[in-house]
Formats: sequence, structure tokens, C-alpha cells
Amino acid sequence: MIASALTLGLVGLAAASPVADRRVVPHYPGTSLSKGFRLVINVTDHCKDFHPPIQNTYISSIHTGAGLALVGNSADAEYARIFYQNGTAQEKRFGGITTISDSGTPPFPSGFKLVKDPGSETVSTAHLDGGLGSKGVGITAFPEPYAFLTPETYAACNESQPYYRGKYLIIIKQAQVTVDENGGIHRNIPEGCAPVRLLPECTQLNSLPKGSYSSHEFAIEDRCYKDVKSIKWSEYGP
Ligand SMILES: *[C@@H]1O[C@H](CO)[C@@H](O)[C@H](O)[C@H]1NC(C)=O
Ligand SMILES: *[C@@H]1O[C@H](CO)[C@@H](O)[C@H](O)[C@H]1NC(C)=O
Ligand SMILES: *[C@@H]1O[C@H](CO)[C@@H](O)[C@H](O)[C@H]1NC(C)=O
Repeated sequence: MIASALTLGLVGLAAASPVADRRVVPHYPGTSLSKGFRLVINVTDHCKDFHPPIQNTYISSIHTGAGLALVGNSADAEYARIFYQNGTAQEKRFGGITTISDSGTPPFPSGFKLVKDPGSETVSTAHLDGGLGSKGVGITAFPEPYAFLTPETYAACNESQPYYRGKYLIIIKQAQVTVDENGGIHRNIPEGCAPVRLLPECTQLNSLPKGSYSSHEFAIEDRCYKDVKSIKWSEYGP
């Protein structure tokens, strides 16, 4: 009787210890290194997700003219854009890099670009037009324990697209956080949009055929997650 109670007690202790450890040591999902990555949408406020949900879908592009595109989403990895951060080590340290995806045949660089919405001081729409990207759009560095695209906050919005005769599509925007005179913090996420994080998932960088306008000479190797949808967020955090 005594022996079995003791055994049960020990089993209980062993089962409890991983939980206790997790409370002492903050614990974050592991990352790998790659030059190429896809971007996966993580809806940080579940109640704001759409129907059908966009959680764990990939960032794709929405063609809006010759060499012009908005940033959209697709559940299918086949339509996920492949991105890389471009710049020197010095530029990476001082926020001077850009995030690029190659488009077309022969491939040319299309930069992830934030363009202020008409009449807004804080909200921009993300573009993937041929040409340069916005400086400072890149993956978070140490000591930030999570890898995600900055500057925050990104938002997914369901908007009518004139190029598609008014059809509604999910597009990515970015809202600048502001602080008012009373110290109140405003995230400025537009009404009806879902706050999201864009998480890098490692993938092989596309190869460039002869005659490409793109170059991977300054593609930066950085951290990314192996498989974002397999991460159980409730197990992680400070
Ligand atoms: C992803 O979203 C979940 C909530 O849905 C949140 O708990 C988790 O921290 C988010 N991940 C990152 C890297 O922000
Ligand atoms: C986007 O809005 C339109 C118009 O209100 C609606 O018909 C459509 O279902 C919405 N799409 C999503 C994914 O919520
Ligand atoms: C990539 O970075 C290098 C080094 O700063 C720069 O010379 C080149 O123009 C950049 N390419 C693009 C497409 O921004």
C-alpha cells in the first residue's frame, strides 16, 4: 500500500515538472536559417479572423497591372511568394534593408513597399510592384524572441478592388502605432481589419536563370520557422 502510494506520488511529480520548468524559463519556437522564405499570416486576435479563416495562409500577390501588385493571401503554398531580404550586413544592422520577391520572365525584383493611404496619417497599403521596396521592411533581430516582419502592425483587410470590377479581396495593410498627449497608445488598425503578424517560413530561394534582372548577391541569410502551422502558440511565451 505504502509503496504504491509512493510510486503514484513520484509519477505525479514527474508529470508536473515540465509545466513548472516552462514557468521559470521563457520558451519560444525554434528557428532555422535560410535566405529564402515565404510569409505566413498569424492572426493575433482570433475573433477578428475572416470566413473562410486566413490563419496560416500564405502571402501571395494580386496582379493590378503591368509590374504592379498588391499583397494578398492564398491557402495554397503553390501561390505563396518567395521573399528574401536584400542588403549588406551594415544595412541590416541599421534598418536599411528591403524585402524583395522576384517576378516575371526574365525575373525582376519586386520590393515589399508600404504606400500611405490617401487621407491617412497612419495607415499604408502593402504593394509588390516592380522596383525598390521600403527600407526597414525585414525580419526582427535579436533580442526579439519571435521572428516576424516589421515594421508592425500589419493588418488584413477585406476591400473592394477596382481592378477586379469591385470584387472584394483580402489585402495587407500596415498601421503605425501612435501615442496621444495623455500617453494613450493607439494601434490604428482600420475598422473591419484583422491584426496579423507575418511570419517567415524557410524555403529554398528561387534560382535565377541567365539574363535575370534580379540578383541574389546581397540576399541575407536569416532566421525563419520550418513549418509555421505546426507551431502550438499556447505552449510558448514569456
Ligand atoms: C500568433 O498568434 C497567436 C494568437 O492567435 C499568438 O498567441 C502568438 O503569440 C502569435 N505569434 C507571434 C509570433 O506573434
Ligand atoms: C468581404 O466583404 C464582402 C462584402 O461585404 C463579403 O461579401 C465577403 O464575404 C467578405 N469576405 C470575407 C473573406 O470576409
Ligand atoms: C540590394 O542591395 C544592394 C546592396 O545594398 C544594392 O546595391 C542593390 O541595389 C539592392 N537591390 C535592390 C533590388 O534593392
